[in-house]
Amino acid sequence: MFAKIFWLGILVSLALPTTSAKAFHKDIYQPRVPEPLLEELQDMDNPFAPTPENIEDGRKIFLGKGYCVLCHGKNGKGLEIPGHKPRDFTDAKWQEIRTDGEMMWILKNGSPGTSMPVRIGKVINEEEGWKAILFIRTFASE
Ligand code: HEC
Repeated sequence: MFAKIFWLGILVSLALPTTSAKAFHKDIYQPRVPEPLLEELQDMDNPFAPTPENIEDGRKIFLGKGYCVLCHGKNGKGLEIPGHKPRDFTDAKWQEIRTDGEMMWILKNGSPGTSMPVRIGKVINEEEGWKAILFIRTFASE
C-alpha cells in the first residue's frame, strides 16, 4: 500500500512539469495570452495612430530605454539568446495574426515560459509600450 502511494507520488511529480510545460507552445503562431482574455485583447485598438512622430518615439524606445534591441535586434529578426528564440518581427504571417492588444498584454506580463520580460511598469510606461508596438509594425514591410 505504502509502496503504491510512493510510486503514485513519483508519477505525479514526473507528470506535473510536463503538463505545465504544455501551457507554453513552441509554435510562434499560437496566441501567447491566456485563452479567456484572447477575444478582449484581439478587439483592443492601439490608441496611438501610426504617425511618423509616434513611430519615431517607438523606435527610440525600442533601441533605448525598453532594451528591446538587446534581444530583438536592430532588424527585428531576433538574436540568438539562450532558451526560446525572440519573435522574428519581419515574419509577415506573424504580423498578420498577432494584434496590438495581444502585444500589449505581453509587454505588461512578459511571455510566460520565455525570457521575454515584463516591460511596462519596469522600464517603460503604457504609452511608450503602444508606441513601441507601432514601431514593431514597421518591420512588416521589410
Ligand atoms: C531578454 C530578452 C528580451 C527583451 C529585453 C525583450 N524581449 Fe520581446 N521577446 C523575447 C523573446 C524570447 C520572445 C519570444 C516569446 C514567445 O515566443 O512567446 C519575445 C517576444 C516578444 C513579442 C511577441 C510575443 C507574441 O505575441 O508573439 C513582442 C511583441 C515583444 N517581444 C516585444 C518586446 C518589446 C517591445 C521589448 C522592449 C520594450 C522587448 N520585447 C524586449 C525576448 C526579449
